[in-house]
Amino acid sequence: MRIAPTLAGMATYPFVRLEEARRRLVAEGVKVIDFGKGDPNEPTDPIIRQALVDAVPERAPYPLAAGLPELRDAAARWCGRRFGVEVDPDTELVPTYGSKEAIFSLAQVLVDPASDKRVVAFGEPAYPVYERGALFAGAEVQMLPLVRGNGFMPELGALDERTAIVWVNYPHNPTGAVAPLSFYEELAELAERLDFVIASDEAYSELWFDEPPPSALQVADRSRVIVFQTLSKRSSMTGYRSGFVVAPPEVIAALKAYRPTVGTAPQEFVQRASVVAWDDERHVGETRARYAAKRDVLLPVLAAKGWEVVASDATMYLWIAVPDADELVTRLLELGVLVSPGSFFGPSGEGYVRFALVPTLAECERAAAILAEL
Ligand SMILES: Cc1ncc(COP(=O)(O)O)c(C=O)c1O
Repeated sequence: MRIAPTLAGMATYPFVRLEEARRRLVAEGVKVIDFGKGDPNEPTDPIIRQALVDAVPERAPYPLAAGLPELRDAAARWCGRRFGVEVDPDTELVPTYGSKEAIFSLAQVLVDPASDKRVVAFGEPAYPVYERGALFAGAEVQMLPLVRGNGFMPELGALDERTAIVWVNYPHNPTGAVAPLSFYEELAELAERLDFVIASDEAYSELWFDEPPPSALQVADRSRVIVFQTLSKRSSMTGYRSGFVVAPPEVIAALKAYRPTVGTAPQEFVQRASVVAWDDERHVGETRARYAAKRDVLLPVLAAKGWEVVASDATMYLWIAVPDADELVTRLLELGVLVSPGSFFGPSGEGYVRFALVPTLAECERAAAILAEL
């Protein structure tokens, strides 16, 4: 069987490898505390679950790519409340099936692989989907190293006229770094000068510890800004698959033309539950408090070990500088504590490990005790 070369040439998705390691340990009877994948174990709030149940119809027709007007309105209202921006729910917003599929397909929608302007740039270490989406679209990728010395912000001087899309992701997975609004302003000015679009993946904007991070939507000139939002982390709804894109009307029109072919509109009962989720902030505050409690359990023991927690100002991740990351990951795995090596996320992730604060508080306490004994 012939497989498309882009797929055949790709390494196994790193988290598939982690999952295999976890399964092996569980089969050996080890009680694994899994700080690997960023899939929240938090319960989805009962009001959201009830809204889903109430919305399940006798017959569910194909959902339309434009989404339910109720959901578009709720998402646009939320952008207004959270970031103080006015978004037209009909022309500037489209619901998505979580955000991954929309992130993956953006280059297919916007990049002409036969033109010179076909470079998709993104910081690394990174969520792997910016790169994979670009490669499947026949675009060229440019990695911008995110290192401690530059506060995990990309060097914008590396961009040029060939740049078509610049991905940014703040609060950042895996480092937990937060970008100030001035960074987005600088990027927006450059986007105007070099004629590229800014694709801002804001999956973690609601998981913060001290103050709410800004959005790329808040720049003075939003005409080149595309923002990807999701309920996955904000509302612990990874399995529901619900997010939205805010973008200039031309981009939303292009997405509405593209998306029916792929068939990734969220189910309408999920969209109705999503309306309830975007309209409620109580459960988000509670979620933040739970992550903060877990973080507080781990920080002292990490400090006592001399492992330095770097950035980590938001998101559900702790980004930890350690002397020998690979050796540590293996040692922890033997003790039933699964963490991700930073190198999973790109070459600049060498020398770090990432803890996703997804185990329960009790498990975090158990892990802290294991770490203290190490
Ligand atoms: C940086 C980042 N962006 C986007 C996503 C996609 O999330 P979803 O498709 O569940 O919205 C994730 C998921 O882990 C992520 O870490």
